[in-house]
Amino acid sequence: MIVYFSGTGNSRYCAERMAQQLDDEAVNSFHFLRDGIAAELISGKPWVFVTPTYAWQLPRVFQEFLRTGSFSGSRDVYFVMTCGSEIGNAEARIRALCKEKNWNFRGLLQVVMPENYVAMFPVPDAAEAREIIAAARPVLEAGIACIRQGQDFPEHPVGLADRMKSGPVNRIFYRLFVKAGAFRVTDACTGCGKCAASCVRNNIRMQNGRPVWSDCCTHCMACICGCPSKAVEYGKKSQGKPRYQGPAYRP
Ligand SMILES: Cc1cc2nc3c(=O)[nH]c(=O)nc-3n(C[C@H](O)[C@H](O)[C@H](O)COP(=O)(O)O)c2cc1C
Ligand code: SF4
Ligand code: SF4
Repeated sequence: MIVYFSGTGNSRYCAERMAQQLDDEAVNSFHFLRDGIAAELISGKPWVFVTPTYAWQLPRVFQEFLRTGSFSGSRDVYFVMTCGSEIGNAEARIRALCKEKNWNFRGLLQVVMPENYVAMFPVPDAAEAREIIAAARPVLEAGIACIRQGQDFPEHPVGLADRMKSGPVNRIFYRLFVKAGAFRVTDACTGCGKCAASCVRNNIRMQNGRPVWSDCCTHCMACICGCPSKAVEYGKKSQGKPRYQGPAYRP
């Protein structure tokens, strides 16, 4: 079974493509995460967990989902992390998690997809994004071939800089940057409520026809990238930038 989390559609695209080619099922973790329900899933085929990279690690919200859920049947587990450039040393924490869950770690695949972090960095326009996705497909196909043949994913080389990024830098990043305080809404808002419905942390409520953010945010970028009126801004950092919606973005 392929279980995924996706803020803006990149990881969903990879998960759905894998499911199609492996004749398997793609399960979205969104409602488990949003409603705080512990997963109880069974799969006869290897597990494949597909997520974005957040600060060179699995998103914390997904780590917690794996830790608290029950994933029975197969004990073989593959991980696929989509990213804008690199996943660092995410593997170390994933291996520790596999040990805790008594899973057979079958490898971690890095798939470079378009950057979606509009609150922090420039994101590609549609033409650039298409090129990046075209380059990602063979990487994904190679991963699918490994799973089909029962092989581990190839090893991913890790250096000192990767350890720093996935270790102390990750912790600092979450403490300093993963906050919803800078989200605001402009007069372009129509009050459609899509931002609130797309929030995996249930962190947005509609008040007098306008979204209001609380402080339980995982910076998935669904609200800001999914707004049909481009009415969400993140301080000044998002101003004038295109919003990113991945190939399988569905609000
Ligand atoms: C909070 C946050 C942190 C990110 N950190 C990284 C990172 O450490 N390395 C990287 O290459 N990309 C990083 N990205 C980019 C995303 O991992 C990448 O665009 C991913 O494919 C988005 O997947 P999604 O569309 O399924 O949400 C980050 C994006 C966000 C929103
Ligand atoms: S998605 Fe955009 S237009 Fe709709 S309520 Fe949210 S901010 Fe307003
Ligand atoms: S508030 Fe926006 S960025 Fe934060 S978790 Fe919800 S949808 Fe994602």
